[in-house]
Amino acid sequence: MLASGLIGDPVDHSLSAFMHNAAFEALGIDARYDLWHTKADELPNRIAALRMEGVLGANVTVPHKQAVISLVDEVSDTAERIGAVNTLIPRGGRLMGDNTDAYGFGRSLLELTDGAIPASALVVGAGGASRAVLVSLQNAGVAGIRLVNRTYATAQALAAALNGLDRPAIAAEPWSRLKNLAPAVQLIVNATSVGWHDDDLPFEAGIVSLLPPEAVVMDLTYRQTAMLRLASDRALRTVDGLPMLIYQGARAFELWTGQDAPIDVMTNAVRKAYARRS
Ligand code: ATR
Repeated sequence: MLASGLIGDPVDHSLSAFMHNAAFEALGIDARYDLWHTKADELPNRIAALRMEGVLGANVTVPHKQAVISLVDEVSDTAERIGAVNTLIPRGGRLMGDNTDAYGFGRSLLELTDGAIPASALVVGAGGASRAVLVSLQNAGVAGIRLVNRTYATAQALAAALNGLDRPAIAAEPWSRLKNLAPAVQLIVNATSVGWHDDDLPFEAGIVSLLPPEAVVMDLTYRQTAMLRLASDRALRTVDGLPMLIYQGARAFELWTGQDAPIDVMTNAVRKAYARRS
């Protein structure tokens, strides 16, 4: 049986094992996915073990997504730009690092817009999750990307790190500009860590009412957040973070197995596990 799993600390909250084990079973692949709780000082040995026979691949989560870069043989362009690896693929004794979060976000976005690429986007939040979103938007060719963050300097540093000649520019804007930007955005993304409690809003509620009627609204949180509720009340198209989670997993599955991921099976497994938990 082939081994795969999630490397992180902690890992016990993860939904990935449900999704991948259901997919292996559905396709008759003799593999299993485990949660590999790994402390920082155990990381080099954990990574070395992935080069041995019988390993299908691995995912990496906090706090190791950056540290793992120096432990692999090759890093994809997307992972390098995001500055984080979430998927490891063994190939002939070598270990490749990729990042499927950007793909997961992009696919979730295109599903929401029926394949249309928004002309402009406003990303709120400038942490680790935001980086993958911004790279995904650049890869998709979204022309007007704005970034706001509670701490302005962090947004400025992130935009500067991701801007380059051959890709759409990201403009960092001060938080106070949110209300001026909202009326013209086609896509708004909550990439902050705010949204886990029913009344949690990353910004004042009035911002949602300023969005144009064709705007689409995405939240990386795995739940119907207050922001998504306000947007749904206005009949705007919305999606939470679960499809992004599923699609990043689907992409990892395809990189490991070379087979099309059974999206419906993975979606059912994640939704069932998530419902049981909440
Ligand atoms: P993740 O890995 O989920 O991106 P992170 O890297 O800790 O988590 O980033 C959290 C993001 O949420 C940051 O952009 C943070 O803003 P700051 O840079 O100002 O800290 C944002 N955030 C956290 N709490 C917030 C709050 N109460 N209001 C607005 N933004 C908040």
